[in-house]
Amino acid sequence: MKESLVFYSEYDEPAAWTEALAAHLPDLDIRVYPDVGAPEAVRYALVWKPPQGFLARFPGLRLVVNLGAGVDALLARDDLPDVPITRISDPNMARMMAGYVLFAVLRYARDIPLFERAKRERRWAYVHPREACETRVGVLGLGELGATAAAELVRHGFDVRGWSRSPKSLAGVSCVHGKDALPRFLSELDIAVVMLPLTPETRRLLGRDMLSALPAGAKLINVSRGAVVDEQALLEALKSGHIAEATLDVFETEPLPPEHPFWTMENVLITPHLASVALPRSAAQQIAENIRRVRSGREVLNRVDPRRGY
Ligand code: NAP
Ligand code: GLV
Repeated sequence: MKESLVFYSEYDEPAAWTEALAAHLPDLDIRVYPDVGAPEAVRYALVWKPPQGFLARFPGLRLVVNLGAGVDALLARDDLPDVPITRISDPNMARMMAGYVLFAVLRYARDIPLFERAKRERRWAYVHPREACETRVGVLGLGELGATAAAELVRHGFDVRGWSRSPKSLAGVSCVHGKDALPRFLSELDIAVVMLPLTPETRRLLGRDMLSALPAGAKLINVSRGAVVDEQALLEALKSGHIAEATLDVFETEPLPPEHPFWTMENVLITPHLASVALPRSAAQQIAENIRRVRSGREVLNRVDPRRGY
């Protein structure tokens, strides 16, 4: 029986992934759900948020590939087989994220929300531009995406700081690590960019205490997962003006319900969870490499540690 890969995603274009993977693995039977063929032939699953019980249907699975960077939803499942789990780790995906973060930081550093409001009032609101180095930007999470975004911000001349779990050394970024260092780290920022994975340790990490550690008037950009920030605490901080502005790409509940107060807040920019996406052309290569590794009994690359949660 020819071994197969099953693809599931409601967001990604199956034809683009099938074509990209077939170019690297012509001998693999690539199946798009619900046309899975013989379930016992499925060796590899390339999935983004499949329905509960989906993975349990394939007893011969040898590798689960998360069709994205964040594995919180995958690790929360109760049908996860005891096989290696990998994530997309692709420089082009990191570049797309870095572009979004740069846009969001520049928007604040160049006072664009102020000009957007002034324009609505037909007001010529001159504010003298500041040098980029006068804006302190803190990146929380210095992984594949966070480190790339931090490097992009350094390239633009910002005063870039970084926070992670373990020590890091990144050119042009002053790095600190560990939970004890977080309040002080936050207290010295103009803009905080959240790029942490959602894990038991990071869930609601940015609650009332941590948000109040930010200087009054700070801005927050969240491109990680909504639940890393306590939304109620953020709402209060945005209403009081302690946090002046927020750019939110991710939310505790997605899609963000129409009645959610964020929708009506002038100082909140909302995008619908698309700061970065998995890109078939570039990611197919590493998925194929991992399939080859599984076939030949070698260790896979970009393996997720379920105990660590990312
Ligand atoms: P990653 O490579 O796994 O890196 C995670 C970073 O967070 C690492 O630097 C890690 O520290 C740090 N970290 C984890 N737990 C921590 C803790 N308790 N305290 C301090 N630092 C901690 O992840 P990534 O590829 O950069 O992606 C980050 C997240 O972005 C994903 O998990 C996903 O949720 C989100 N994402 C969002 C979008 C979007 O479109 N909005 C797209 C892709 C991804 P160490 O380096 O010390 O391990
Ligand atoms: C998207 O949010 C991802 O984790 O890839």
